[in-house]
Amino acid sequence: MKITIIGTGYVGLVTGACFAQVGHKVVCVDSDAAKVKLLQGGGIPIYEPGLEEMVKENVTAGRLSFTNFIKDGVEKSDVIFIAVPTPPQADGSVDLSYIESVARDIAAHMTSYKIVVDKSTVPVKTGEKVAETIKRYSKSKVEFDVVSNPEFLREGFAVDDLMKPDRVVIGVRSQRPVQAMKAVYQPFGSPIIVTDINSAELIKHAANSFLALKISYINAISVICEASGANVQEVAAGIGMDARIGRRFLDASLGFGGSCFPKDLSAFIKISETLGYDFGLLKEVQRINTQQMDRFVKKITETLWVLKDKKIGVLGLAFKQNTDDVRMSPAIDLCQRLLKDGAHLRVHDPQAMEKAKALLPKTVTFVSDMNKVAEGCDALVIATEWPVFKQLDLEQARKSMTHPILFDGRNLFDVAEMEKLGFIYKSIGR
Ligand code: UGA
Repeated sequence: MKITIIGTGYVGLVTGACFAQVGHKVVCVDSDAAKVKLLQGGGIPIYEPGLEEMVKENVTAGRLSFTNFIKDGVEKSDVIFIAVPTPPQADGSVDLSYIESVARDIAAHMTSYKIVVDKSTVPVKTGEKVAETIKRYSKSKVEFDVVSNPEFLREGFAVDDLMKPDRVVIGVRSQRPVQAMKAVYQPFGSPIIVTDINSAELIKHAANSFLALKISYINAISVICEASGANVQEVAAGIGMDARIGRRFLDASLGFGGSCFPKDLSAFIKISETLGYDFGLLKEVQRINTQQMDRFVKKITETLWVLKDKKIGVLGLAFKQNTDDVRMSPAIDLCQRLLKDGAHLRVHDPQAMEKAKALLPKTVTFVSDMNKVAEGCDALVIATEWPVFKQLDLEQARKSMTHPILFDGRNLFDVAEMEKLGFIYKSIGR
């Protein structure tokens, strides 16, 4: 199939590459000329395992191309995906101006029937607005269908999630685009659910909010575990074995972050408010998340007492493992809080150091070797769940620190083993 994707952010780029990988002919459009040039030359602007190779392979095979010109994309394809940003506004609602602008551009260049698919995360009823906009701005009055097709990929696992999705959701208002949409996704072999547009849009916000709720739930349990002497990992294993609950997304942490959960929770609360419902449950999810970071910082200050002029090593800057994304990263938030209290930081991340440099002051020391971060430190903190941190040379770290204190915001190590190694070890809910 001939497919155009407008917007080459995380979702657009990975979707484009994976569609090309299964044999579709894909044109990716982006208004950022420098980004398009980089992509045309075989470079990619983000770190995402497996993506660079996939982009190169498909560009070489002639199945994937990049352009600045939306007109090219609209003319060349029958199915046009919108994957542009939907950033948060100050009041928590979503800025839909990029979506609106793309809808107008598509309308201006349509000369034959098109299926316009929204992949960006949007409030329920956005599809109706997109359809109205295209109808209003289309000069030639050609026929079109608007479809909602939310994306469920996780950063760091995006290629895998897209190639083997749990499900594909297709929201339509008539049967006409269904066959073509099924043809787009048939090669992936996953179940396809066809719904109305409003339900498809709601599925996305409901799914992300539920996952965030699951994390806040286990984080709340971690507080009870600490107060009672129980172990949150054992509790998570015990409840997670119930198939109705499931073990995934029950890892207690210093809180969730990233460009999706915090934004989508605020948006969903706002949308519900507009529809006349006070979604207090989700407000509590947000409150627990903020408290989790507060409690972690308190743990550090209670142990080190005065942070001013203390040297602290921080392992992890990305908002999660396997990515260089530092947007709304709990690790960056933590660094900023420690710096505000006068601590000196030595930091390391396997992929996110460059992006973190833009968010942290020049006084922070960026250390390229994870095993050297602890040198001369009063404490070491693990802020991101990178699996490679489990291979840290703990003996070397302990010896090189002025005090062997380790705060583990991701529960990477075993409590008894850390104590045996001579660490004062404080983790989450254990
Ligand atoms: C999330 C959803 O998982 C995707 O399904 C969705 O497509 C995406 O948002 C989106 O809307 O675009 P993502 O933000 O990439 O994906 O990352 P997650 O793996 O969900 O992690 C989010 C945050 O929760 C991270 O800070 C992570 O460290 C934290 N987390 C995750 C926990 O603290 N505990 C867990 O058990 C799992």
